[in-house]
Parts: sequence; structure tokens; C-alpha cells
Amino acid sequence: MCGIVGYVGDKNAYSIVIKGLRRLEYRGYDSAGIALHQQSKLTVYKKKGKVADLEDEVVGKDNGGTVGIGHTRWATHGEPSDKNSHPHVSASGKLTLVHNGIIENYAQIKAELIKKGYQFHSDTDSEVLLNFIEDIQINNACPLEEAIRIALRRVVGAYVILVLDEADPQTIIAARKGSPLVIGIGKGEHFLASDASPMLEYTKEVVYINDYELAIVRPDELILKNLGNERITPYVQKLDLELSAIEKGGYDHFMLKEIFEQPQTIQDCLRGRLDLTNGDIHMKGIEEYAAQLVIAPRIIILACGTSWHAGLVAEYIIEELCRTNVEVEYASEFRYRNPIINPGDVIIAISQSGETADTLVAIETAKAKGAIILGVVNVVGSSIARASHAGAYTHAGPEIGVASTKAFTAQLTVLTMMALKLAKLKGTITTERFLHLLHELQAVPQKVSDILENHLNIEALAKKLTEAKGFLYLGRGVNFPIALEGALKLKEITYLHAEGYPAAEMKHGPIALVDEHLPVVFVATKDAYHEKIVSNMQEIKARKGRVISVITEGDTVSPTVSEEIFVIPEADELISPILSVIPLQLLSYYLGIIKKLDVDKPRNLAKSVTVE
Ligand code: F6R
Repeated sequence: MCGIVGYVGDKNAYSIVIKGLRRLEYRGYDSAGIALHQQSKLTVYKKKGKVADLEDEVVGKDNGGTVGIGHTRWATHGEPSDKNSHPHVSASGKLTLVHNGIIENYAQIKAELIKKGYQFHSDTDSEVLLNFIEDIQINNACPLEEAIRIALRRVVGAYVILVLDEADPQTIIAARKGSPLVIGIGKGEHFLASDASPMLEYTKEVVYINDYELAIVRPDELILKNLGNERITPYVQKLDLELSAIEKGGYDHFMLKEIFEQPQTIQDCLRGRLDLTNGDIHMKGIEEYAAQLVIAPRIIILACGTSWHAGLVAEYIIEELCRTNVEVEYASEFRYRNPIINPGDVIIAISQSGETADTLVAIETAKAKGAIILGVVNVVGSSIARASHAGAYTHAGPEIGVASTKAFTAQLTVLTMMALKLAKLKGTITTERFLHLLHELQAVPQKVSDILENHLNIEALAKKLTEAKGFLYLGRGVNFPIALEGALKLKEITYLHAEGYPAAEMKHGPIALVDEHLPVVFVATKDAYHEKIVSNMQEIKARKGRVISVITEGDTVSPTVSEEIFVIPEADELISPILSVIPLQLLSYYLGIIKKLDVDKPRNLAKSVTVE
């Protein structure tokens, strides 16, 4: 939610910050703005819309200066508009700030400031925070750094802030709690951003700032302190990320690139873990907690959105292979209902970004109650990764498209390996079945490639469905969550209504939706329920619904009841979700393209949901 970028050095800050904001647009794209230090004065440009609209606004204006901060917004307090865009400027005009997060007690602080005569020019909590800081600075006659510390001790909520002071032209002051902040260290320059992508071509040395830390950043100096004003030694890490990983690489859209990357990302996920030579799986994080996992009475999976769907698939697989009781919870619900954590319970937190506020707070709640937290996270060094006791990275690389695709299949791959590892440790799987599933996993990247080769069939199918006003997605067993995921992807990318349902549950209500206009997408791969799902197709067909089926190679029955089919390679039932989701991702993509929508940045969404 919101991307922030800052630069101090000797280069043109405008171009570095703008380029950085473009890379962070996945975090929000309602409005954008930039503040530049220019010959002892602060210049602010901001505009409703995308970063490109901001660039148009600045054309022909002075964009000089070597110190600057910028922001791309996902609106929380106040509608997307020029006035609510960041950076905000303080009442005196001497300070300017960008903010990512939410100040929960802003109304109370705002009321206090209004009593003192402050006027506000936006509806944002961020402008309140900035004036609160300025008010403290004036009343206490203290340095800005001290005023920020005092203010942050009073605010409730989440923030990353970058502040510029007209009186201190070579400095950015930054602070973090709950939202991410990375500082890149260059030669005589520093870069600040919500993730490392804006600094990739300049430095590989970065410091991930922790909660309650404040950084004073100058071209040649990075001072890190806690809110108690004690110095902290910055922990410098090497970035393991190449520029090519965050570029489109010849594809029209990040979403398509990321869908097509899946054979590689799944391979990367398996590498070093799947050991066919010795018939084993190596997962250090899981092995560290093997003893606790084996005796765990219950595993609770916490996640949101697409990651929650991965959790639902994992529930089927873990219960089937490990005979451990699994519960899958929306992190946002779990944290607010005083959840029961029994001794020995293990939590698995799934998150692509590793920054989702609901998931982060949920695991902190569970941790405080004594649970062990295992993270299944994509972004290395992210907040959820750091808050977990151990876990396994999904190694899918940066996912820029706002709708999750490759991160989902990587999550499924990791969770399947975790289940297999645990089943082996618990002795709940035969050697024969274990080895069979290892071979099945090994074959997945090639099978995904085979599916992608037939992408034109899905494009053709999308063309036949352009008039549809809504969709129903149905699946059973381990493929029921794939129906949910297919429906979510369609909603996000095409803005059409879509429902995901267990196929058998359809007759208890949603069947009323069925008429000759409704496409009903069945995830009907070969499994123990196959005959049952074919009966469900018959029920839809009998009501003139349009049956579209994702089926397994060799299935001769489903085509007889389907208007359209898409064939995927045969796979073990427990592995099949990694394959069956791919055509559904492609269908959403092509429908979005036909409708001329921005598939990489669907309206109202943001990639990293750092607000609760
Ligand atoms: C959907 C999507 C979201 C995320 C959800 C959780 O395409 O991307 O539903 O899955 O916001 O995000 P992470 O996985 O980053 O915790």
C-alpha cells in the first residue's frame, strides 16, 4: 500500500525518484508526487493518477535538485485527488513528508491541532502527522529528529515516513513501523524505498530498517537510531536480485511474463529441496522444527487472498498425507477473535509480499500465545519472513503484476514439499507413495510448459466469452480452492462478477444463477470425484448453462458434456492444482486484454496490502 522513494546524493533526484516510483506503482497508483530540495527551498509536484500523469505535470518545470522524496498512493484516508496526494507540506511550508501506512489516532491529534489554529488542506492522516511533528518541533524548540521521535511515540498505527526540512538541504529523515523500508548504500549517495527495486542499478548493498527505527540519511552518512535516541549499527546485506527480474523482458505485461515464468519459478522452488537421488526432501527451516511439527496436534494456516487459497489446497494435502488436523483462517478474521492456541499448535503463514498487515499482526498474535510460526514467503527479508521462527522461501522472484500468479504456484509447490517432508517424518506415507509424489513434483515444470504452449487455445476461448456478464467456477476436493482462485483472478482482472464454489454445493443455491448466458468453469481434472463432477456438469448443461471444463488428457467423458474444454497433462490428484490453475490465470489475462483493461494494475488494488 503506497510506495515511497527517496534519494540523497549528487545525481538528479527527480529522475531517480520518478523511475523508482514507476517500479513501485504495483503498491498503489491513485496519485503520485515528488518533493525536491532546490536551492534552499522545497518544491512539490503532485497529481491524481499514475506516475505518468505526474511526469506530464512536471514537463517544462524545474526538476533540478539532488535530494528528493516521492510517493505513489493507494488511498486510505481521503479519495484519490490532487490535494490528498503526497508529499504533504507543513503549515509553515518548511517541512514536507511522504507516508505509507495508517495513523489510527489521527482524528484525536487533528482535533488538538485544530484547537491550536492549524488548518488542513487534505483529508489525510499523513498531513496530520506532519503538522503534529512541526508543532512539537516549534513548542519544544528541538531538532526535527527529536520532534519526529516524540511524535512517533504518540501515534498509533503503521508508518514509513520520509521527511525533508527546508533548513537542512542534505538530509532525509526516515522512520518505520509496520510498513517496509530499505536503504541502499551507494558511493556518496543513499537510496530509500519501500522495496529494493528502485535502487537495483545503483547498489547491491542494502539495509532493511526495522520497526521503531529512525534513519538520518545524508549523501555520505547513514545514522540509525531507535526511538529512544540510541545509535544502532546498520546491518548491511547483499541484494540477490538482478534488474532483468523486474523488467518485462519482451512481454506486453508483467502478468503474462509472470504466468510464462512459472516453469522456471517452480523449478527454482524445487531446486536444492527435491532430492530424487536419495529419495528425500531438504527444507532446513522445516527440519529445524521437525520435532514440534511431528507432535503438533494442529496446524493453523494464516493468509489472505490468493495466499489463503494456497492454504486451502495445503489443508487437503497435509491432512491427506500427514493426518494432522489443519485449519485455514483468513488472517484478518483470526486476529480479531481472541483465537485459541493450544500448546504445540504450529502456524504456517503464507504471504507473497511478506508485508500483508493482516497476516503480520495475526502471526504476532499467535506468537504471543506461544505458537511456532513457519513462514512461506516470497520476498526475502520481508516483515513476515523476519517475524517467523523459520520457514521456506518460495523463490518465485519479484512479482510485479498486482494479481498473484507465479507466487501462487510457488506457494503450492513449497506447501506440497512441506507436507511430504512432514508425512515422511511422521511415518504417515509409504515409501512408494512418497517417491511417486517426488517424481510427480519433478515433472511439474515441464507439464506447466506444455500447458503454456497451448495458450492460444485459451485466448480463443476468451474471445468466445467476451459478452459474459458473470462467471461461476466449480471444483471439488483439492481443486475446489482452484475454483476460488480462478474466480478471484477473473474479478481482479476483468471486473466481472465471478463466484467460486465447491461443485457439489452449487445445487444448494448458486444453481439459480444458471441460464444460457452463464459460463460455468469446471476444474474437472481426473481424481477420485471425477464421476461426481461430470454429474454436476450434466446438471448445469440440463439448465442450458455454458459448461467450460479444464480436464485431464485422456478424459473422454467430460468433452461430451462441455461446450468448451481445455486439456492439461495427467498428474497425481494432489499435484494437479499447480497445473489446473494455469489455464484460469490465462483466461483472466486474455479477457482483461480483450476488454482493454490495465491487467498489471487493476483498479482499486495494490500489491502489498500494508493496511489492516
Ligand atoms: C490476488 C492477490 C491478493 C494477495 C493478498 C495477500 O491476486 O494478489 O489476494 O494474495 O493480498 O497478499 P500476500 O500474499 O502478499 O500476503
